[in-house]
Amino acid sequence: MSVLRVRGGEMLRGVIPIHGAKNSALPILAATLLSCGRCVICGCPDIADVRAAGEILRHLGCEVERVGTSLIVDSTGAKAAEIPPELMGKMRASLGFFGATLSRFGWGRLCAPGGCRLGARPVNYHVAALSALGAEWSQTDSELRCNWEFRVGGDLTLPFPSVGATETVLLAAVSVPAVVTLHGAAREPEIADLCGFLTAMGAEISGVGTSDLTVRGGKRLHGAVWRVLPDRMETASYLAAAAAAGGDVTLTETDPTLLAPVLETLRKAGCRIDTETKKIRLVSDGNLRGVGTVTTAPYPGFPTDAQAPVMAALLRAKGESVFCETVFPDRFSHVPELRRFGAEIALHGRTATVTGVERLSACEAAATDLRGGMAALIAALCADGVSTLRNIAVLDRGYENWVENFRLLGADVQRTEE
Ligand code: EPZ
Repeated sequence: MSVLRVRGGEMLRGVIPIHGAKNSALPILAATLLSCGRCVICGCPDIADVRAAGEILRHLGCEVERVGTSLIVDSTGAKAAEIPPELMGKMRASLGFFGATLSRFGWGRLCAPGGCRLGARPVNYHVAALSALGAEWSQTDSELRCNWEFRVGGDLTLPFPSVGATETVLLAAVSVPAVVTLHGAAREPEIADLCGFLTAMGAEISGVGTSDLTVRGGKRLHGAVWRVLPDRMETASYLAAAAAAGGDVTLTETDPTLLAPVLETLRKAGCRIDTETKKIRLVSDGNLRGVGTVTTAPYPGFPTDAQAPVMAALLRAKGESVFCETVFPDRFSHVPELRRFGAEIALHGRTATVTGVERLSACEAAATDLRGGMAALIAALCADGVSTLRNIAVLDRGYENWVENFRLLGADVQRTEE
């Protein structure tokens, strides 16, 4: 098992390029299945979840080749096949591949998708939306089988702006020879990126960037070249680390407009943040102040994926910071791990109250999930002494070259296998 030794106390200084967004690359890779041709996905991060996506595409008969930072996918020879449970279970984004398989071949098997444990992660919105478009389901004890022979258009409304369910509807609707309108759609930038790629393949989508998307489907889609938008969560994570440890870090190839609530919160904590079109520079002396209440919400609100890393940045802040998690029912599994460092965090339902402490002490802690693992790393960077972090392979799912990047910034970190 991979472990990370972290000697805390080093400030972070340097320049790091941000990669393409994991949560955009994954649905876009699923959408390549609909092109029946050759797609070039530029700026595709080389992370474990993207490699898992490549395995699924190859299993479905696609040719997948990485050329530098691009992934070339030729789905000409793709054939209807069931995505094996062991592949489906690797990540939540497998749902997108289920939707794309259904869209291209008219049937699919849905077994338990993987992904971070953030409380129950049901798929009822996905099932209800596909049913409204004519999909028929049969259930066994461990899986849902879906047959989509008669495709109908219509007006759908999501009860919650689910990112995944919005992606499922988009991947399905482009193959419906009618008009599909989705109300209450997610407005995350990654959704607009997926719409952009589908449009580049020949789809007709309007309302992009709003909660009301209209798709005029049924057109034959062709291959396309697309550059994935920058990863706003990778950006937020490095900013939170620099804010906490102190230092002067510049992130390039990113987009400050994608994470305004995070920048606002870190400025409130006392960081100096300068932005240019594709750059963010954060300067911090490591002595932060509490930020009051931070409430996560669907875009354009404070992103739930930044909750854990920003919480970790505020463990030594003077004053209180209160995090209200409104997107996931159970997204505080990183809190017990942060308490091991001496953090003072009180939990009441979906609210976590952080009272800043003078110092954090090195300890043994575990990465509970992708963003929780980043939080534990940020705490270790600020703790007195040498910490050991376990289960850190989970960070490989979403952060390309993260160990090298932190070492480049001056962190005293060493990855070993136990
Ligand atoms: C996507 O997950 C992201 N994952 C998550 O990022 C992100 O936290 C989340 O969107 C919210 O922004 C990927 O894009 C691969 P949702 P997703 O459907 O699609 C409930 C990371 O760290 N819900 O918007 O699964 C659900 O339980 C990951 O990169 C239902 O009840 O999120 C949750 O409470 C973590 N029924 C809420 O909606 C459904 O059918 C939002 O979930 C679907 C969702």
